[in-house]
Amino acid sequence: MTQAATAPGPRGNVLLMPTRNIRKKTHEYLLRLEKEYGEISKIKFGPFTVIYLANPDYIEHVLLNRDIYTKVQEGGMLRILLGNGLLTSEGDFWLKQRRLIQPVFHKQRLERFIQKISESTDEMLGDWEKKNGETVDVYNEMNRVTLDIVGKTLFSVNVKSEFDKVNSALTKIMTAIRNRSRFMRFPLWVPLPSHLRIEHNRKVLDETISEIINQRKGETGKFDDLLTMLMEVEDADTRERMTDKQLRDEVLTIFIAGHETTANSLAFTLYLLSKNAEAKKKMQQEIDAVIGTGEITFEKLHRLEYTTMVIKESMRLYPPAWMIPREAAKDDVIGGYQIRKGDKVLASPYAMQRSPRYWSNPDAFMPERFTAENMKDMPRYAYFPFGGGARMCVGNNFAMMEMQIVLAKICAQFDFVLPENFELELLPLITLRPKEGVPVKLVKR
Ligand code: HEM
Repeated sequence: MTQAATAPGPRGNVLLMPTRNIRKKTHEYLLRLEKEYGEISKIKFGPFTVIYLANPDYIEHVLLNRDIYTKVQEGGMLRILLGNGLLTSEGDFWLKQRRLIQPVFHKQRLERFIQKISESTDEMLGDWEKKNGETVDVYNEMNRVTLDIVGKTLFSVNVKSEFDKVNSALTKIMTAIRNRSRFMRFPLWVPLPSHLRIEHNRKVLDETISEIINQRKGETGKFDDLLTMLMEVEDADTRERMTDKQLRDEVLTIFIAGHETTANSLAFTLYLLSKNAEAKKKMQQEIDAVIGTGEITFEKLHRLEYTTMVIKESMRLYPPAWMIPREAAKDDVIGGYQIRKGDKVLASPYAMQRSPRYWSNPDAFMPERFTAENMKDMPRYAYFPFGGGARMCVGNNFAMMEMQIVLAKICAQFDFVLPENFELELLPLITLRPKEGVPVKLVKR
């Protein structure tokens, strides 16, 4: 048997290389790794060995073999935030929960959400009417509307008044998690200031979710939504219902995974449209022609072809889930290179979707890349903003539909202008965010 090789990569621990400035700009560093070492590289990152993949076939191998490549276990960033919900759980337990939750998001069942998504967006646009000519941070606005949408569509609750609390707790947790030392990671029960901050803000989120669940207890029959389903379902073998803790983890997961990513993507799309007048005009023409002043329907959304390409191109340049980490549960070989049990394996939609080996003029905003003709030879995993394999985003169709509706409504009624000196800076936390938000002047059309 031929011996597998060790993947190439920088010598020493990259966190000790100040010139690399990688803590704040990991997304850019990954692109440099590909340039310097090619399609696979090995990095010593604090106490971890990380294998970074920049080849669509290698990424496919990892995403499709979930018996070898599992979600990062204890201490993983998402697990600290979300507990053991659908995004973080593993094995048979995950599969059982996935089978339970997935039908709510089936394409055929999404149509019934159109009206509620439209209503939430209309409410926001009603507020915007009063702000005509003012500059608002659309990043904040998009977070507000997407939280409202998840609350109303999936849990039949109005969480608008909770927005500031939830949003600030989430940001503080994500920042504290990122700032946890990568060399000396103490368990969370050690009362370090950063741990106390995580704990305090996690409690804030917990309380919000518990309130929603408690309020629903006793009135489940009144609602036909995801929350009722989660509360009433019984395990096929034990006939037991979900514990309160499990219910809390699932509900929090859907709330967090379902609003922030979509909001970031909407904000990035509005930013890109403000910078690209031609694309904005073309999209507005399509929306005016297909939807006009009428109701939004499933059939009309299918006809928003250019708008859909704009959304896809926005998620290529600024994928909210900018990195997808896994952990090798067994030894493996990828592309002739050795992967060892315990190695962290990293795929990055951000870096892969800007790789000059797959995308011409990769930093340019060109929605036409996404015509069927232009994409026909593109490897499947050169573009994967929703991940792939069995763990692919359960809400991907929901998110696409939501983004179409929100954007169609905004573009039909408003133009938006960026301040002249505005430079977009990225903040790569668990999700990719615009660091200083996206301030735009709203101009009624
Ligand atoms: C633009 C919006 C969104 C993006 C870019 C996005 C991206 C992703 C990605 C990349 C994954 C896979 C992570 C991995 O493999 O480690 C994922 C998983 C997931 N997403 Fe999304 N997502 C979005 C919207 C949503 C929405 C709207 C919901 C729910 C309402 C949602 C719920 C979930 C859940 C529950 C998982 C875990 C699925 C599992 O492991 O079985 N996401 N998402």
